[in-house]
Amino acid sequence: MIKRIRIIGIGMGDPRHLTGEAVDALATVDVFLVADKGERSADLLAARQAVCDAAIPADRTYRVVEVTDPERGPDAERSPAAYGRGVRDWHAARVDAYADVIATLEPHEETVGFLVWGDPAFYDSTIRIVDALTGRLDVEHDVIPGISAPQLLAARHRVPLNRIGAPIHVTTGRRLADEYDPRLGDVVVMLDGHLACRGLVDRYPDLELLWGAYLGSADELLVRGRLADVIDEVARVRADARERHGWVMDTYLLRQAD
Ligand SMILES: C[S@@+](CC[C@H](N)C(=O)[O-])C[C@H]1O[C@@H](n2cnc3c(N)ncnc32)[C@H](O)[C@@H]1O
Repeated sequence: MIKRIRIIGIGMGDPRHLTGEAVDALATVDVFLVADKGERSADLLAARQAVCDAAIPADRTYRVVEVTDPERGPDAERSPAAYGRGVRDWHAARVDAYADVIATLEPHEETVGFLVWGDPAFYDSTIRIVDALTGRLDVEHDVIPGISAPQLLAARHRVPLNRIGAPIHVTTGRRLADEYDPRLGDVVVMLDGHLACRGLVDRYPDLELLWGAYLGSADELLVRGRLADVIDEVARVRADARERHGWVMDTYLLRQAD
C-alpha cells in the first residue's frame, strides 16, 4: 500500500546529470509512474530507462508503469483563458489516471516515483498533480531537484543567464512576442514550437540569440549569434533536426548587447 510519493528530477536524460540525492532516491522507489506522451514517447522512455539502469542497483526490484496521457486539446488555437482552462482540465484527468493506477498497487509497493525531465520547478505539472493526489491519499511526498534545460543551455554556451545584478525572465514561446521588453533583462524561452523570437527581429535585431536543442544528448545542437543574423540558420537547423527525429526540444536565451 502506498506510503510515499517521490518526485525526482533526472536532468536531460544523461545519467551523469543525476545528483547524488536523486541516485539515492531512485533506489527507494517500488513503482515508477511515467506518462505515455505519444510522438516522442519512445525516446523519452528510453532515456528514463537508461537513467534507472545506471542508478538503481541490479538486485533492487521495481516496476515501471506507463500511464496513458489524456488528450490535451488544440492549445495553439486557444485564447489565453481557454488555454488555462484546458490545462486545468487536462491536469484533473491526469490526476484521475494516476489515482486509478495507484489503487491497483500490490501491498508491498509502498513508494511511488515520478521521474521528471530536467527539474520539477520548470514548466512541469508533476508537483501540482502530486499535490492533488496527496489531497486524496494519506501519503507523504518529497521533491528532488535535477539539472534543467536553462542550466544546461547556459553551461553549454559557457555564459551566466543574467547580466551583473540584473534579472532573468523565463517565459514560453507563446508569450514572448507580447511581453518582450528590454527592461525584463535577459530572457530564457522554453516551450516554443515556432521560434517566436523571429517576431522580435525587426524591433530588436541586435539581441544575441543563444539556442540549444536536444541538450544533454548525443544529438545536441547549439547556435549563437546576433538575432537578425542567425534566425534563418536556427530555423533551418531546427526544421532539419525535427524531420530526422520526429520531434524537437529546444531552449534559448535572448541577451541584450553590452
Ligand atoms: C515541459 S518543459 C520541461 C522543462 C524541464 N522540467 C526542465 O527543467 O528543463 C519542456 C521544455 O523544456 C525544454 N527542454 C527540455 N528538454 C530539453 C533539451 N534536451 N534541450 C533543450 N531544451 C529542452 C524545451 O524548451 C521544452 O519545450
